[in-house]
Amino acid sequence: MSAATAPREASAGSTAPLVRLLNVSKTFPAPSGAVTAVDDVSLEVRRGEILGVIGYSGAGKSTLVRLINALERPTSGRVFVGDDELTALSEKELRRVRREIGMIFQQFNLLRSRTVAGNVAYPLALAGVRQPERDRRVARLLDFVGLLERAHSYPEQLSGGQKQRVGIARALAVDPPLLLADEATSALDPETTADVLALLKRVNRELGVTIVVITHEMEAIRSIADRVAVMDAGRIVEHGELYDVFSRPRTPAAARFVRTVLRDRPSPQTIARLRESHAGRLVTVRVQDGRGFTAAVTRAFASRGVENEVVFGGISELQNRSVGALTYELRGADAAVDAALADLAAQGIEAFEETGEPGAGVVASPGHGSTRAGGEG
Ligand SMILES: Nc1ncnc2c1ncn2[C@@H]1O[C@H](COP(=O)(O)OP(=O)(O)OP(=O)(O)O)[C@@H](O)[C@H]1O
Ligand SMILES: [Mg+2]
Repeated sequence: MSAATAPREASAGSTAPLVRLLNVSKTFPAPSGAVTAVDDVSLEVRRGEILGVIGYSGAGKSTLVRLINALERPTSGRVFVGDDELTALSEKELRRVRREIGMIFQQFNLLRSRTVAGNVAYPLALAGVRQPERDRRVARLLDFVGLLERAHSYPEQLSGGQKQRVGIARALAVDPPLLLADEATSALDPETTADVLALLKRVNRELGVTIVVITHEMEAIRSIADRVAVMDAGRIVEHGELYDVFSRPRTPAAARFVRTVLRDRPSPQTIARLRESHAGRLVTVRVQDGRGFTAAVTRAFASRGVENEVVFGGISELQNRSVGALTYELRGADAAVDAALADLAAQGIEAFEETGEPGAGVVASPGHGSTRAGGEG
């Protein structure tokens, strides 16, 4: 087995992160004043993980990628990849580092004048890999991405999903420990997106390649990431295990992304709409993994004589665990409703009164054991 498809052994005893950003900022000069694309970001990418970085357009995601693969130098802060401190390397050494990092892009960036095999062979030729080893590696890579029979096609003869498979094979050609995917599925339809994401997951699980997935699509993050970082206006506003961020988003930015794929707390517009037909108090309960959850909530209401009805919400599955939110309309004396909410808090169940006002408070917030740090960077 060649290095191209051999599972990667974690380097002996190495638990150090593969990528580390320490207080990294990047400011671009602009006619209308400087633009801070990345603003004091500290972030680690662990060996062997898939880290999702999500943010809206202009949040600074691509700039962050370009700082990791040494296409940009930070204005301040330090960047480490593997054993290298990029911020301390010469331009010549940075070229080596760049070659060692795989990249895939939204627009695929394939060479139109070369065949599929020619595209994958290109970085191998640059790296000095000779025939017949080069052909063997190309064939193995194309087999891995399921395109062996298209080896002699040209990019324009391929579908978008096939082009991205070529992009992935090419990125893996030099056997990189790290693959950066910048909006790699954003130009694809949902079904093709799912195929490409499944392939990236195989790259991670079977070849041991650490992957950073940059996207504005929460669905992509949901289906493959182990951990997620949410970027907003140049900063990482929230990061942690996928399940933790999805089940308890702590910032408005994260909550908005979660709402695109899961029912979370209703938006202010939804609350206004619910108000038109529901006169009782609206309270959202975050669904927790575990049996008997909804029964426990219903029991808390019933035991205080509070009538309750689910008016919004949903429960999904994430990493084999339940996640979601249920919004109840509660009818009863205020004191009874308050007592029921206190009962929920006592059981460690998180509930929010939906007043529709921005920043509406938590009415029942148990201390929780989440280890993720919100708002770092
Ligand atoms: N080379 C540059 N010169 C000047 N400004 C830049 C440069 N690169 C990025 N910016 C600015 O930095 C900010 C972040 O841009 P970036 O491309 O990193 O965002 P993004 O999150 O990748 O957005 P998108 O989702 O649209 O790709 C934007 O305001 C952008 O205009
Ligand atoms: Mg971008």
